[in-house]
Amino acid sequence: MKLIEVKDYNEMSQKAAEYIIEKVRNYPRINLGLATGGTPVGTYKILIEDHQKNGTSYQEVTTFNLDEYIGLSGNNPNSYRYFMNEKLFNHLDINKNNTFIPSGVAKDIQAECLRYEQLITQHGGVDLQLLGIGQNGHIGFNEPGTSFQSNTHVVDLAPSTIKANARFFDNEEEVPTKAITMGIATIMKSKEILLLVSGESKNDAMHKLWNGEVTESFPASILKNHPYVTIIADQAAVAGLKMHS
Ligand code: PGA
Repeated sequence: MKLIEVKDYNEMSQKAAEYIIEKVRNYPRINLGLATGGTPVGTYKILIEDHQKNGTSYQEVTTFNLDEYIGLSGNNPNSYRYFMNEKLFNHLDINKNNTFIPSGVAKDIQAECLRYEQLITQHGGVDLQLLGIGQNGHIGFNEPGTSFQSNTHVVDLAPSTIKANARFFDNEEEVPTKAITMGIATIMKSKEILLLVSGESKNDAMHKLWNGEVTESFPASILKNHPYVTIIADQAAVAGLKMHS
């Protein structure tokens, strides 16, 4: 894993956006894996600004999002489909038919998991996957204890995740308790991974990732086994990190 240390959230967003823009310009037909949550919002804002100012085109880009809440349709402002439309897709020249997110309201949710996994494979896999990390080390919604062999699957959200995500809802009771997520094996199949980490609340997770062992009880630790991971982390996230290990 390569670690790029930056000053703060804004610099992280800037660096991440530059990284993605360069890839999109070099490979206009890239398959991007995208993430939701607070971490990538600044990055998406800069992608939009760049598209408007410099004309970087997403016409041929395909995207696959990591996850979606079960029970929320794309019209629900708390769904990840809605989030992605609002924060990114609506402001680019991307063809929405090429933006894929698991459906949280599919009649047969197991079939939806299989369909999503196959969809990624049929498109040749994800070239660059953007990731955040949960305070408990989750990636996507793969909570501690998830098998490293897992493909796209249904998960029960950890109480700490529900608490962390309650800030996006009116109250904690409204946060769905289940989600559909790319599995750890799905994420590991990405050719390249860009992990963004910002803020003091992620400091502990950053320490475990950098210095801890590879264990299913800390899902992000599997990234140590991936050949091509870049981490962009800010000072608050890396404070106290022993860089040598
Ligand atoms: P956050 O979530 O970006 O809202 O901190 C990251 C995650 O849970 O993966």
